[in-house]
Amino acid sequence: MHPELMRQYLEYYRDLGIASLYRRSAPVTPLATPEPQAAESASESLDAIRADIGDCRRCRLHEQRNKIVFGDGNPQTKLVFVGEGPGADEDAQGIPFVGRAGQLLTQMIENTAKREGIPLERKDVYICNVVKCRPPGNRTPEPDEMETCGQFLSRQIEAIRPKAICALGATAVKALLNTKEGVTRMRGNWYKWRDIPVMVTYHPSYLLRAYNQAAKREAWEDLKAVLHYVYD
Ligand code: URA
Repeated sequence: MHPELMRQYLEYYRDLGIASLYRRSAPVTPLATPEPQAAESASESLDAIRADIGDCRRCRLHEQRNKIVFGDGNPQTKLVFVGEGPGADEDAQGIPFVGRAGQLLTQMIENTAKREGIPLERKDVYICNVVKCRPPGNRTPEPDEMETCGQFLSRQIEAIRPKAICALGATAVKALLNTKEGVTRMRGNWYKWRDIPVMVTYHPSYLLRAYNQAAKREAWEDLKAVLHYVYD
């Protein structure tokens, strides 16, 4: 097994509360002893992941949050959007992207789809964030908070196995692609999270700022590319 995959399994089992694992000695003939089913498929439901998060206190973000914001949309979708973390409206409602930035994102998805002749509404995609609790004052999540919560994001994406991911802004890019390269340079291009294509684009909050009209046009282009790739 690839060491990175092994590390993810170990982290996953640790989070399930399983403190130690043992490994059977090597099989005499590889075909005679298949790998354990659960570990190999690594597929679990979003409900199971949400249940595992529980009333999470794994990092300091729990201290000031009202609601954990897990994710919203169709678990069978082909397209997942990943933002940064909940804002005030999301923290109050427990649903991602419902404030001003969220309304812009919803409009962008639905208007672009309509204009491109793709029958798609917000409820047909899945939307989530890198961190599930609101960072106080909407600050950027700290690396340790992203690391702690990142395992849940990975598990959500593995549970859904979309055809593509759209990374919204720098925090999503850092979490998914492990790079510090700027969004301005990366946007409009395809990358990979494991084996799943990732389109990078601007975060909708950035687009809300009046001076970002050119960026808005670019984000629409990015979204158009994602929608055609996924739904054509
Ligand atoms: N910004 C985000 O990154 N996520 C939300 O859910 C809302 C605003």
